[in-house]
Amino acid sequence: MSDPVRTLLTGATGTLGRALRPRLVEAGHDVRAASRSPRSAADGVEWVELDLADGTGLPEALEGVDVVVHAASAPRGDSEAVDVRGTERLLEAAAAEGVSNVCYVSIVGVDRIPLSYYEHKREAERLVEERPVPSTIVRATQFHSFAFELLETVSRLPIWPLPTAVRIQPVDVGEVAAAICERATLEPAGRVPPVGGPEVRTVRELASAYREAKGLGRPIVRLPVPGSAAAAFRNGEATCPDRAVGTVSWEAWLSRRLDS
Ligand SMILES: NC(=O)c1ccc[n+]([C@@H]2O[C@H](COP(=O)([O-])OP(=O)(O)OC[C@H]3O[C@@H](n4cnc5c(N)ncnc54)[C@H](OP(=O)(O)O)[C@@H]3O)[C@@H](O)[C@H]2O)c1
Repeated sequence: MSDPVRTLLTGATGTLGRALRPRLVEAGHDVRAASRSPRSAADGVEWVELDLADGTGLPEALEGVDVVVHAASAPRGDSEAVDVRGTERLLEAAAAEGVSNVCYVSIVGVDRIPLSYYEHKREAERLVEERPVPSTIVRATQFHSFAFELLETVSRLPIWPLPTAVRIQPVDVGEVAAAICERATLEPAGRVPPVGGPEVRTVRELASAYREAKGLGRPIVRLPVPGSAAAAFRNGEATCPDRAVGTVSWEAWLSRRLDS
């Protein structure tokens, strides 16, 4: 019997990381989960401390690793330091360790939507492709939880001002985790087809379904958002309708989420 693949999972505490952990363990990986605040060993994974913004813990995290699943990111923090420079540090250390495959998680539309976070993700993709360590890049559309969090922030308001014409293709994070798990092997695959949710939906449609599921009667009003990034979202640049591989609809996800 061959040895299990030893896999470092960055961003192991995040939305995607939490979905990846059990799937990687179930797929037979020997999982090392990384966080700036590591947990004590549990759920069949080994925890290590890793801060990509300054490299704390990087050599220890990578020791003996075959595959890296890189899901750490700072969408609301310093994404230049974490997503760009942190990815660069990780790639250098992975190359030195002789890692077989760095599997990088990115977002559909990072090359088409002029948001600084997306520009940093695009730069990280470029580094992943250019550096000598073998790699795989998997892009995904927005997770259902992303839309849910946006709607939760307006749900207490008497009227809901929203960028109603924005179009996204929300996907179940478990389905994204399953697709990434399939790519987390000793065989790097380069840029692979993205993972999109089952349907492209407007924010108005998502908000209406959320309002109905919550039994609320608030008016939804269009919030005009100027600028080219908002226009790109309205144009559907964050979607990949030809890769609608997810099967869990927004309504099905919502009902599961609100029942839990
Ligand atoms: N959310 C979406 O809708 C979506 C859609 C498509 C693709 N993606 C991509 O999927 C990946 C995961 O996204 P997510 O939504 O799961 O992210 P998330 O919930 O915001 O989690 C971010 C993770 O990054 C880690 N992290 C942050 N700063 C760090 C640092 N300085 N050093 C090391 N780790 C750090 C955090 O760990 P600690 O705080 O424990 O250190 C956390 O585990 C990202 O690359 C994102 O771009 C997300």
